[in-house]
Amino acid sequence: MGTDRKSRTSEKWSFVFNVGLLLFFGKQAFAQIRYSIPEEVKEGHAVGNVAKDLGLEITSLSDRRFRVVSESKETFFEVDSDNGALYVHKKIDREELCQGSGACLMELKILVENPLEMHYVVVEIIDVNDHSPSFPEKEQTFEIAEHTLPGKQFQLHTARDPDAGINSIRTYTLTANDHFRLETEEFGEDGKVPFLILQRPLDREHTAQHWLLLTANDGGKPSKSATINITVIVSDVNDNSPVCDKPKYTITIKENAPAGTFLLTVNASDSDEGMNSLIEYSLRSKLRRPSSEPFDLNSSTGTLTVKGGLDYEEKQVYEIKVLAADKGAVSLSTHCNVVVRVEDVNDNKPEIDITSLSSRIPEDAPPGTVVALMDVTDLDSGVNGQVVCSVPSYLPFELKPSPDGQSYSLVTKDYLDKETMHIYNITITAKDLGNPVQSSTKVIQVDVVDVNDNSPVFTESPYTFYVPENNKAGISIFSVSAGDADGGENAAVTYSLDRKIPGPTLTSFLNINEADGTISALKGFDFETLKMFQFQVVATDSGTPSLSSNVTVNVF
Ligand SMILES: *[C@@H]1O[C@H](CO)[C@@H](O)[C@H](O)[C@H]1NC(C)=O
Ligand SMILES: *[C@@H]1O[C@H](CO)[C@@H](O)[C@H](O)[C@H]1NC(C)=O
Ligand SMILES: *[C@@H]1O[C@H](CO)[C@@H](O)[C@H](O)[C@H]1NC(C)=O
Ligand SMILES: *[C@@H]1O[C@H](CO)[C@@H](O)[C@H](O)[C@H]1NC(C)=O
Ligand SMILES: *[C@@H]1O[C@H](CO)[C@@H](O)[C@H](O)[C@H]1NC(C)=O
Repeated sequence: MGTDRKSRTSEKWSFVFNVGLLLFFGKQAFAQIRYSIPEEVKEGHAVGNVAKDLGLEITSLSDRRFRVVSESKETFFEVDSDNGALYVHKKIDREELCQGSGACLMELKILVENPLEMHYVVVEIIDVNDHSPSFPEKEQTFEIAEHTLPGKQFQLHTARDPDAGINSIRTYTLTANDHFRLETEEFGEDGKVPFLILQRPLDREHTAQHWLLLTANDGGKPSKSATINITVIVSDVNDNSPVCDKPKYTITIKENAPAGTFLLTVNASDSDEGMNSLIEYSLRSKLRRPSSEPFDLNSSTGTLTVKGGLDYEEKQVYEIKVLAADKGAVSLSTHCNVVVRVEDVNDNKPEIDITSLSSRIPEDAPPGTVVALMDVTDLDSGVNGQVVCSVPSYLPFELKPSPDGQSYSLVTKDYLDKETMHIYNITITAKDLGNPVQSSTKVIQVDVVDVNDNSPVFTESPYTFYVPENNKAGISIFSVSAGDADGGENAAVTYSLDRKIPGPTLTSFLNINEADGTISALKGFDFETLKMFQFQVVATDSGTPSLSSNVTVNVF
């Protein structure tokens, strides 16, 4: 703003009034001259040539005591009595003198004496954009729960700018973002008040904090501005279920794994926060059948261990559902699938089951006679099932496997001889091919049944006896004896005289005790008529059929 404009303004207002008229109309309304200057101009800045504008004689100003009388305590303006100029004496801050946006006017009285004249001059202090907007705080923080409905408003801090009119706050702007927009509302004295409006739902798991910048601009040229950082902290809502880190957890464990053996750790994570993300694990089947599973689960770590009682022969595969639930007020959960395969360990002995047994085998049974039939089983699998059976090779028995290998027959390898061995304790050994080897034995007892396969055998052959003459008739004179290697009836020997021999019937005067073989004479012998005689004794066993043998007895 140059002095040109000021002088033009002053010309327009350049009237001369007398004092009486001024008093009558009031000072302000009838200021004779109106000047305008911008605030903050330097001391000495010329406002206008007031003497000239009032039509005063410049040369007499000094004599007439040309001066300014101000209503304010401070002296903002002075006049120069040499040239009649009105100039700024003290820097003026419009905002210090005037409030609000209305025109800021300062009234001055210009006095000259001889004769006394008082002139009214108004200086308008024009606002200069000398203030920046400012916010009361440097930042503002909001905590907004995720899933808050769009449309919700949040009042923002209002910026202040003491400048007037166009130099005061005109606009607010917000950094571009997907979730919020800005609205302003007029609130009388406070002017524009900015509001943050939620446009789109927040998702904490996507963006937990939003940083925005709110800018307040005044209308000056150039414009001045202020910014405030707006932080939006998105608070968590339990809107995410836990997620297992694997679609399926698989582990193989030996059936003899001791209690406490570590299997695996189920790991579920939850993208929520705090309690909403803390996971508690449980064995789902526990809810239905308590402690039915041979596993323990640590509810806080998800670690699965062996509780005990694994048995491959009972169950080979466990399909477990581990429930992973978060600790949110309204808990969300998922299931993690675990497959535990049990591996066989050679922990079972083969079993020998005798299905039929002939425990008494006759001596004359031909080789290959079946003594026993047996089934051999092993609860283990693989090589732990495969079983080999045997009997000691020195025994006259052998095992013949059936084509399927599941059963065996015990047969004789040779003729048995009761007279050599009448009882056999046969140890059958079944061994599997596992490591370590598991084996079991079964003893079966076989009695060899006698058959009459031995003839009686006399203790001597022939017998020779010497008998004195004139022996007493009816008295036993000697005896024969025969044994039989068979048993029982087959060994029960009876004696008789062989009377079928042709010739003199010597035997007619002899008698034999059929039970003990004692021979007695029915008459006395006479040496002179009979020096020697001979006969046959037959020993017969009681077998069916019976066997017999004879012996010659010579009597002298
Ligand atoms: C405002 O945010 C900006 C950028 O994020 C940062 O540089 C500045 O330090 C922040 N101001 C305050 C007061 O936090
Ligand atoms: C569990 O899974 C999460 C997500 O996959 C991973 O960050 C964390 O390290 C895992 N914890 C363990 C103990 O493996
Ligand atoms: C679960 O595991 C943690 C960490 O190893 C342990 O402190 C806690 O005692 C375990 N809980 C149970 C019930 O074993
Ligand atoms: C056969 O076994 C029985 C009992 O099991 C026993 O008394 C007998 O002495 C055994 N015989 C032989 C020859 O080992
Ligand atoms: C006695 O034994 C002989 C020879 O062993 C035999 O030839 C004979 O027939 C037998 N006699 C009787 C009666 O058995």
